[in-house]
Amino acid sequence: MSRPIKIAPSILSADFADFGREIRAIEDQGADWVHVDVMDGHFVPNLTFGPPAVKAFRPHVKTVMDVHLMIAPVDPYIEAYAEAGADVLTAHLEAGPHPHRTLQAIRGAGMKAGLALNPGTPAEAASELLDLCDLVCVMTVNPGFGGQSFIDMTAKIRRLRAMIGDRDIHIEIDGGVDPKTAPLVVEAGADVLVAGSAVFRGGSVDAPEIYGRNIKAIRDAVS
Ligand code: DX5
Ligand code: ZN
Repeated sequence: MSRPIKIAPSILSADFADFGREIRAIEDQGADWVHVDVMDGHFVPNLTFGPPAVKAFRPHVKTVMDVHLMIAPVDPYIEAYAEAGADVLTAHLEAGPHPHRTLQAIRGAGMKAGLALNPGTPAEAASELLDLCDLVCVMTVNPGFGGQSFIDMTAKIRRLRAMIGDRDIHIEIDGGVDPKTAPLVVEAGADVLVAGSAVFRGGSVDAPEIYGRNIKAIRDAVS
C-alpha cells in the first residue's frame, strides 16, 4: 500500500512566545499535521507544556493536532488532552506497565491512538498492541530535546511495516528528520515525518517562506 507522506513540524522548535502565529505560519507553508511535544521533566529530562497550553493551540490548528506525550503516568491525563482537542494522542510504550489499557482509553476518549517506541525498544514489543493503534511512532532520537542526531532505525521500521501488513496504521518517525534522513525512513515504510529543527531552521513568523522552503526540501527528498 503506498501512503501519501505527511510532514508534521514539531512546534518544540517554534518561538514559545508566539505559538498561534507559528502554527498558522507552518500550516500556510505546507505542513500536513502539527506535532506537539509534551514533556514532563520525569519521563524525559525536559519540560514543555500541559493541557491548558495545548487547548490554547487548538483554535490555531486547521489540520491535525498530533500530540506526543513524553510523560509518565499517562492515564490520568488522557481526558484532559481529549478536552484540549488532540486529534492523535501518542503515549510511550515505556511509560508504564499497561500500554494496552492506555491505548484503549485514548480511543475510548474519542482520539486516534499512537504508540511511541524509544530507540532501545524493539518493534516486536508492539506486536500485541497494534490492533489498538492508529499510529506507531518510531523515535530516531532518545526523546527529550530537539536538534539531536538521527539514530538509524530503518531495520526496525521495516520489521514494523511487515508486522502491520494491510492494517491502516501510520508509521511516524520522530527525531533528526531532514532531507538526508527522510528518504531512508520513507523507503523503509514510514509515512508521517516529524521535523523540528529541519523545518524551523532559519525562518520566523516574519520570514515564513523559509519554513515553506524547508518543508518542500523534505517533501522533494522523498518524492
Ligand atoms: C524529541 C521530540 C521531537 C523533536 C524533533 O523528543 O519528540 O518531536 O522535537 O526535533 P528534531 O526534528 O529537531 O530532531
Ligand atoms: Zn515528538
